[in-house]
Amino acid sequence: MTPTLRLVALAAGLALATGAQAQQAPIKIGLMLPATGTFAALGDMIEKGFKLYVQEQGGKLAGRELQYFRVDDESDPSKAIDNVGKLIKRDNVDVLVGTVHSGVALAMAKAAKESNTLLVIPNAGAGDITGPLCSANIVRSSFSNWQPGYAMGIVAGQKGVKRAMTITWNYAAGAETVKGFTEGLERGGGKVIKDLNLPFPGVEFQALLTEIASQKPDAVYAFFAGGAAVKFVKDYAAAGLSKTIPLYGPGFLTDGTIPAQGEAAQGLLTTSNYADNLDTPRNNAFRKSFALTYKANADVYAVQGYDAAQILAAGLNAVKGDLAKRDQMTSAMRKVVVDSPRGKFTISPAGNPVQDFYLREVKGNYNEFRSVAVKALADPARGCKM
Ligand code: PHB
Repeated sequence: MTPTLRLVALAAGLALATGAQAQQAPIKIGLMLPATGTFAALGDMIEKGFKLYVQEQGGKLAGRELQYFRVDDESDPSKAIDNVGKLIKRDNVDVLVGTVHSGVALAMAKAAKESNTLLVIPNAGAGDITGPLCSANIVRSSFSNWQPGYAMGIVAGQKGVKRAMTITWNYAAGAETVKGFTEGLERGGGKVIKDLNLPFPGVEFQALLTEIASQKPDAVYAFFAGGAAVKFVKDYAAAGLSKTIPLYGPGFLTDGTIPAQGEAAQGLLTTSNYADNLDTPRNNAFRKSFALTYKANADVYAVQGYDAAQILAAGLNAVKGDLAKRDQMTSAMRKVVVDSPRGKFTISPAGNPVQDFYLREVKGNYNEFRSVAVKALADPARGCKM
């Protein structure tokens, strides 16, 4: 062998060795979710759902083990840049998975874009992420905030609501869900007479409930989630409003919260990409597997975590676990038809699920399916240029 040939052979051998090592090393997953605060239970369900799918694949995706790195983001946007930096720079993760709160997720999306880290969002619906900030390396397994709001607006219009009020926190998710509701309602000839709000994660609802009582709208549309949703639904009933003014919301108002809300939640109508009792083989198998593994009932957040893992798996399978084949991987994550417990859905070019929205009613401990409110609803993805 000439010295040049020997060098070529050596280099090829080295490349093979590093390739093989890369195949074997675990994929580093950075889970950035709330473990404390009003959204703590949501973060827990997302993580459980994600890990359930991985467990069902024998603990590996595309033949590779996963190694988890966790950060409690506390749903605090002021700490988001530091928190996501820990996962990207300190832990050097391959994939970011998170989060619940739109303000925190916006910081994650910017950091993911700058560092070209893969990001799968299992909840936060900030419109900008699949709008002006859209990027090939970012995909969402959940919804845009506009989507469930729009679906509820359509339903309220069909029910003849002419004058509605809205109440929520004054941050991106609140403003965007109200925008969706208002657009849907206006299509049916109704209008929003007043938007009420309070700072996140506040729960001082009394003065606002008094204002609702004095304005006497035909209906109220409210977005709160987690611990705050428990208190809001109870306060609304305790103020005597539920007897006279129907309360509507996106599904979050009653997802994972019904046992704590008790009587006050019974009969509430909400719109969501999921209903607990969807009677399909896929949903029944998922709920059974979740209950067996965690001794708890799944909810929409668990489904979105599960589907985040499914979308990631679709990308990894397309490149046989080779993360270096980035373009092929991200395009497979957009092309997948996700076989979700919620029903099959696709992903828009901007990276957001195109999915059915269901009208549900609380009965006992469940959000029961009533009808399809809007079929195959896509976010308008205003401002996404890729
Ligand atoms: C959000 O901030 O985007 C958000 C938070 C909690 C939810 C839904 C959306 O349940």
